[in-house]
This record gives sequence, C-alpha cells and structure tokens, in this order.
Amino acid sequence: MKTLKIAGSAVAGVLLMAASAGAATPPALYTDAQATAGSTVFSDNCAMCHGADLTGAAGPALIGQAFAAPGSNYTVGAIFSEIAEQMPAGQPGSLSQTQYEQVMAYILKENGFPSGSTALNYKASLASTVPLVSQVK
Ligand code: HEC
Repeated sequence: MKTLKIAGSAVAGVLLMAASAGAATPPALYTDAQATAGSTVFSDNCAMCHGADLTGAAGPALIGQAFAAPGSNYTVGAIFSEIAEQMPAGQPGSLSQTQYEQVMAYILKENGFPSGSTALNYKASLASTVPLVSQVK
C-alpha cells in the first residue's frame, strides 16, 4: 500500500512538471516557409530602423528581453496589430497581408517560437491572445 501511494504521488509530480513545462513552451504559430520569406521582408522594410539583428536602432529592439520580457504582457495580437497597422513607420499598411504574416513569422522565430505545419493567418493573428514572451535572453 505504502509503495503504491509513493508511486502515485511521483506520477502526480511528473504530470505537474509536464503541465508547467507546457505553459512555458510557446506554441507553433507559423511555418518555416513563412519565416524564411519573412527574413527578406524584414531586411527590405524593417532592418533600417530595427537593426539587421533586430536589436534596435532608430526603432526599438524586436528580440529578447529588451523587446518581450514576461512583464511586458505582450500578446501576438497586440504586436501583430502594431506591425500590420503602424509599420513600417512612415508608410503604415504598405506591405501585403502575406508580407505582414511572413515578417511576424520571422520575428516569432528569432524570439525562439517553434515553427509548425499551420501557417500564421493575418486575420486570426490580429485577434490572437497568445502571450508573446521572448525565449531569447
Ligand atoms: C522608419 C523607421 C521604422 C521602420 C522602417 C519600421 N519601424 Fe517598427 N518602429 C519604429 C519606431 C520608432 C517604433 C517605436 C514607436 C512606435 O511604436 O511607433 C517602432 C515600433 C515597432 C514595434 C513595437 C515594438 C514594441 O516593443 O512595442 C514593432 C513590433 C515594430 N516596430 C515592427 C516593425 C516591422 C515588422 C517593420 C517592418 C515591416 C518595422 N517595424 C519598420 C520605427 C520603424
């Protein structure tokens, strides 16, 4: 009986650890193809203000804790809305919806979000409540 009880709580502990690890691992929100195309969109339209390595220049950093620390309470929807509606600064809305999807995919990738089999979608991403916390230091 005693052995069984110990085994039971060990299992519960493992499940708890799995649950908290799941919360910390960001979801797959874009495809590799989008992120690859997004790298070019970024170089052509964003790097002059945000830096080729995303660490910031005239515009703020778009990578790491200087961008999206847990305490900044960013969501994918809030950041994507800012990009789609206000960027590039000076020419807001000048890219296609496809290009905005691609550049968002690139930014997520650079911040440690995994790629997956479902493409990031313009409309859905504007309303996304997924927390955007950079996995990069
Ligand atoms: C002409 C310079 C310029 C260009 C080009 C530009 N940005 Fe920005 N960006 C800024 C500035 C300045 C800010 C901060 C002030 C603001 O929010 O308007 C900013 C803010 C942002 C933010 C919000 C960051 C935060 O922490 O809230 C994101 C995300 C962003 N830009 C993404 C992009 C992307 C993606 C592109 C290319 C499609 C781009 N920007 C092009 C100047 C620029």
